[in-house]
This record gives sequence, C-alpha cells and structure tokens, in this order.
Amino acid sequence: MASNKSLLLLPGDGIGPEVMGEVYRVIDWFDRRRAVGFDVKEGLVGGASYDKYGTPVADEIVDQAMQSDAVLFGAVGGPKWDNLDFSVKPERGLLRLRKDMDLFANLRPAIVFDGLIDTSSLKPELVRGLDIMILRELTGGIYFGEPRGVEEISEGERRGINTEVYTTSEVERVGRVAFELAKKRKGFVHSVEKANVMESGQMWREDMQALRDREFPEIPIHHMYADNAAMQLVRQPKQFDVLVTTNLFGDILSDIAAMLTGSLGMLPSASLGAADATGRRLALYEPVHGSAPDIAGQGKANPIAMLLSFAMALRYSFDLSEDANLIEAGVAKTLDAGLRTDDIMQNGMAGVSTRGMGDALLQELDKLAA
Ligand code: IPM
Ligand code: MN
Repeated sequence: MASNKSLLLLPGDGIGPEVMGEVYRVIDWFDRRRAVGFDVKEGLVGGASYDKYGTPVADEIVDQAMQSDAVLFGAVGGPKWDNLDFSVKPERGLLRLRKDMDLFANLRPAIVFDGLIDTSSLKPELVRGLDIMILRELTGGIYFGEPRGVEEISEGERRGINTEVYTTSEVERVGRVAFELAKKRKGFVHSVEKANVMESGQMWREDMQALRDREFPEIPIHHMYADNAAMQLVRQPKQFDVLVTTNLFGDILSDIAAMLTGSLGMLPSASLGAADATGRRLALYEPVHGSAPDIAGQGKANPIAMLLSFAMALRYSFDLSEDANLIEAGVAKTLDAGLRTDDIMQNGMAGVSTRGMGDALLQELDKLAA
C-alpha cells in the first residue's frame, strides 16, 4: 500500500534480524486489518554493515534515517567484531545515528505484565503493577565527551580518558521531556546523578531544580545519587514514576529496571529528537536488549521488546495510540495464555520460538480487532 508514513528498518546483528522478522509480520497485519500502511525500507547497520561496506553505518543510511518518520533498530555487535578498531566497532553505528539525529531523549518504560510477575527477580508484591519510565539523556555525557582516547605516557604505561560533559541547555531539554512525561503520568520526577563527587553532577542537580522552579512548579522533583537509585530500584521500585538521568547512569539503571520486569527481552525504547515547527521529530525505536550472539540464529530470541518498540513508534511518531494499545494488549494476552520464549520460561508454561511468539501475537490481534 502506498503510504505517507515512512519507516526505516535496521535489523543489525545477532538476534536483530530474527526479532525484526516478527515486526514485518505485524506491519503487514496493520496494513491488511487496520488499513494502516507504511512505506518500509531496510538497511544494514553494525557488524553487518561493516562486513559489506567497512563502516558500521553508511552515510546513505544516516541520510535515510533523517528522512524517515521513524527508524526501527534491532541490535548490533558480536564476538566476530570484538577486535575491530574502536572507530568501526558495530556499536559506533548506533552511537552515530543517535548523535547525528540528535536523539537526546531516550524513553525506557519498565512495565510488569501480570503474566510475568513470577519471572521477575524480585518478590511479586514489589513488582505487581510496576510502571516506571527511565528517561536517559542520550547524546551527551561521557559517551561523547572530549577529550577521549588512550595514550601512551611511558613504556608499558598508558592513560585511558573519557570525559563527562553537560551544558545547561542539554540538561534542560531532557529535563523538560521528564516533566512533560510526568504530567501525563503520576506527576513526579526523580533526577539522578552523583552530585556528591562530580561537578557536572552538581550542575545537573542545580539546573534541574531551577528548571522545575521556573517552568514546572506543580511537579515535585526529588534528587537522588545514582548509587542510591540503583539500590532503591531493587528495594522499592514502585516509589518511582519518571526517573531522568545522564547517558551512562541511564544505561546502567535501565538494565536494572529491565530485570524487574522479568527479562531484558521485554523492554522497548524510544529515542526522540526535538520537535520542529510542524511538530515532527526524528525518532529511533529499539529494544533495550543487545544482539545476544549466544542464541542468534536459533529462533530462541524473545521478539516482544522489538514488537513493543514498534508499538512505541505508533504512539510517539504516528499518533496511533489506539493501534499501539492493540499491540500491548495482544502481548499481555499472549503472556496470559502461558506462551513463553526461553528467557521468560516458567514451570507449566508452553515454550515457543521467536516465530511462535509472533504467530500467537497475530492471533491475539485478530481476536482483538474482530
Ligand atoms: C544500550 C546499549 C548501547 C549503549 C550500546 C550497544 C552502545 O547498551 O542501548 O543500552 O551503551 O547505549
Ligand atoms: Mn545498555
């Protein structure tokens, strides 16, 4: 179907292509059953791109990503490329897309489905009904700060350097996203840094507080050190609603949040840029999990994080909340029916492959849309 909604699919490496395969089928379902069509293109990224072009992401792909309404990204990396020079490692492809597209706001919702309560590593009462949003700053901080590198300072002695840098405008633009999200949720924000040891953390705290006082006086803000936040996330996760933090702390804390939900295979994410005058924003959607080379190509991967990432694209890039809800409801029903990939397997449940999980979701979607 011809469509004005453009999607660029970048499956990447490892389990990326397998989980993206299920997205293709769901896209096809929306076209047939909901008359929601997409103009879909596919490209190479990560090690797959390196093998063909000698670079983890080609310029043409970056251009296409900038022109697409949304990019769906699988996963990158694997042992095959571990010894490559840093500048061409698969991960650089993803980092370049984030940076060139200026996707500063990374939304990582951690939601516990009732059917999966027992696969969480925490006690059921601590996670039942859990719904928190980790908002990770994605284009600044130590991931991109200069100076960086490794230098030889004398025979056998090297110095490795990375730099944590934030400007007030970088803190404020992600802060605004946090407060806006909070307004539509439970209505409070935790801002997380290490103000006790890092000057940039002290500045982050002051700038967040000032922004809140100036523009969002109705939203309570709590400041928390990152080590304490890690502990609180496993002690009493339901105390959080929106947790906004720096690039590196967000990377770590979102993996913790993911495990609360039962498996890293369940967590989607959205990376958003600033809205232009017409309200359009660049966006990339990806599962929080990686390329899982140990199980790649075996049909064992859980496609749910990827499918929920597509649901986030429907909601945030195409304003199709109802359709996003359909996918989320379909996933919940599939889990309620007892179907499980390996990562979320429990006693008495029925094991399914990546494809089997996709089949089950399509059947639930048929029922929900009937
Ligand atoms: C993530 C990943 C990436 C990151 C890697 C693959 C570069 O861990 O999206 O959380 O560290 O940001
Ligand atoms: Mn990570």
